[in-house]
Amino acid sequence: MKLEKEDIGKGELVLINPDYKLKSKINNLVSFGKKYNDIKLNNIANCALHSILNNINAESKIVPVSGYRTLEEQKYIYETSLKENGREYTQKYVALPNASEHQTGLAIDLALNEGHIDFICPRFPYYGICQSFRNIAPKYGFIERYKDEKKAITKIAKEEWHFRYVGYPHSKIITEKDICLEEYIEFLKDFLYPNHPLMYEEYKIFFIPYKGQSISLELMEDYTVSGNNVDGFILTIKGEK
Ligand code: DAL
Ligand code: ZN
Repeated sequence: MKLEKEDIGKGELVLINPDYKLKSKINNLVSFGKKYNDIKLNNIANCALHSILNNINAESKIVPVSGYRTLEEQKYIYETSLKENGREYTQKYVALPNASEHQTGLAIDLALNEGHIDFICPRFPYYGICQSFRNIAPKYGFIERYKDEKKAITKIAKEEWHFRYVGYPHSKIITEKDICLEEYIEFLKDFLYPNHPLMYEEYKIFFIPYKGQSISLELMEDYTVSGNNVDGFILTIKGEK
């Protein structure tokens, strides 16, 4: 496998925020499902999401509110919210165009299925079925992305309804360490390929910095690679249990 500069912006671990905006074109989108045809998600994230909902029997109790957004949609949401809700609210809860994870297809806003659902701040409480979802989401590759105590770093207020697919075991490590994706991407930089892996369960995780030249990887093991959208790649090798 050959990794090129443009691959830094691709993969399930891309960091998208005002400092590291979306760089890459998105594909592999699928519909959430029949009833929500116009809500699209990355194919792998969508499968993982349905596995969670199925596992806790929440297919009709938790509903998707917003998945993949085009740049135009993010602009529209931002501008409409500015007019309707004002600047302070909008900056808290709506990412700037090209700084939204929704544009990757890896983020989903979820709501408890009850009467009126607010599009920007849906209700997804810390108890009942929503909390059951939250508890097992990391087992399936999802993290709760915007926590109150991380808002100085993420620049977004607490969004208990917004889940981001990062893949397993990254989701579990992030949740156990109680860090945000910005912090995780930084933390991984010490685990340099090929000699200093982060070991977690049967996985070895490495950071491969991009130094201006394409990188060739010849691996026989079961592995995945994702760009971090900052300065390199995260290699995840799955070993024997
Ligand atoms: N609500 C999140 C931050 C977004 O607009 O991407
Ligand atoms: Zn969201």
